[in-house]
Amino acid sequence: MSAQSSIPEHHPSASSLNHDPARMHRLDPAMLELILGYVTERLELAEAPVDGLGDRAAMQQAMSGLIGDGPRDAKDVLDVYVDYLADTVLSADSPRFFAFIPAAPTKASLLFDMVVSAASLQGCSWLEAAGAVMAENAALRVMADAALLPKSAGGTFVSGGSAGNLSALVVARDTAMQRGLTPQIPHVLVSDQSHSSIANALRITGMRPLIAATRDGRLTREAIERALVDNADDASNLVAVVATAGTTNAGIVDDISAAAQIAQERNLWLHVDGAYGGAGMLVPRLRPLYNGIEQADSLVMDPHKWWFAPFDSAALIYKDPYLAREVHTQDASYLDVIHGGDDLNPSDLAFHLTRRARGMALWFSMAVNGLDAYRDAVDAGVRLAQYAAERIDASEHLDLVRHPELSIVLFRRHGWTLADYERWSQRLLNRQTAFVTSSSWYGEPIGRLAFLHPATSTQIVDEVLDSLASAISA
Ligand SMILES: Cc1ncc(COP(=O)(O)O)c(C=O)c1O
Repeated sequence: MSAQSSIPEHHPSASSLNHDPARMHRLDPAMLELILGYVTERLELAEAPVDGLGDRAAMQQAMSGLIGDGPRDAKDVLDVYVDYLADTVLSADSPRFFAFIPAAPTKASLLFDMVVSAASLQGCSWLEAAGAVMAENAALRVMADAALLPKSAGGTFVSGGSAGNLSALVVARDTAMQRGLTPQIPHVLVSDQSHSSIANALRITGMRPLIAATRDGRLTREAIERALVDNADDASNLVAVVATAGTTNAGIVDDISAAAQIAQERNLWLHVDGAYGGAGMLVPRLRPLYNGIEQADSLVMDPHKWWFAPFDSAALIYKDPYLAREVHTQDASYLDVIHGGDDLNPSDLAFHLTRRARGMALWFSMAVNGLDAYRDAVDAGVRLAQYAAERIDASEHLDLVRHPELSIVLFRRHGWTLADYERWSQRLLNRQTAFVTSSSWYGEPIGRLAFLHPATSTQIVDEVLDSLASAISA
């Protein structure tokens, strides 16, 4: 013992150092049955309810004092969740959820996600989790192959498209510097339809956007060239170009070939944000829309969106993952053991260290269901969007804003203001018909439907569109 220590000496008996693991870490059979029962019930639902209603005051009251210094019966706590909390959470995986970007995880992916949780599967490094890394890499390979990226491509799964975009753009910036670019303030060419997470990533990393204005939602060669000419100073500070493979608002795939060519001419990094729409590549007749994606230096696609996996999961793939390793590897003496050699550790490829092996749910589901099932399920969403578009086109009181390319339909209801769309949305939610939200198109309030769930039927689409026929009174 150190001579300077002022801590009084105390010699506990060896047995008193052993904490009782039964107190918190023992498997309680009753709790197991309770939770498995609830989970089974939920998984057995043919259609998850829309939900999203519920009483916040009642919820607050039920929560009051729930967490105290002592234990509580698991059933009481689960009851609070079931009776007060669950209903207030919208089911993004309901086939009646058409807002934002819906979710539709396969049962296989949900079940394996439980394995990932129960086995505490992390996926940081080859040293710690070789099997998990191998399984995740197999899923990433399928995604990279869909994009026709080279065999050398590789990456990792992060929590979402936002985290993927941020991690990729950091690599873009630092690689540009390493290649001798010396921008005063690094700029990235983006379109006015790029996802908000791109703007966020640029702000966080001290970069700035050079925004190419679109006319019809699509980043074209002309839009890029116009932006470069009109902003010559910012253009000389560019480090990267971002193209979107499926804009969130309208489901438009940018002219990736043009973006790739301009990036190559100027020695810029090409990042493709396919968080929502990347899965469209699986459908052969849509594949030409994505031409040029094979030249991406980095690509993001979210399994928790159109790859039918549970939250939270985004695939981040680099053409040359060693560039990402240069940028993201964390250096600490206790981590030296995981580094060295040619191994690409998932923790070295994004701004994270400890990470759940979240890609394994996708891997399991891909293997169990087969990729044809994925192609057909993605195609079903696109066909449903076409069905809705045709119905809108044929309607007297509705206009199609733009013919859908992927699975998002934008429409206007004659004479409606934003308040009308909002009232319509609330009415559908109150009746549990659907969850829809409004959006805007070049400043005009519009209606928006995002399809993704394979269980969404034409009948459900009809119900939603028919509800637009009646005027909404204030
Ligand atoms: C094109 C695009 N990029 C990025 C994101 C952000 O993804 P996440 O919500 O998973 O962070 C989204 C989300 O909808 C998106 O559609």
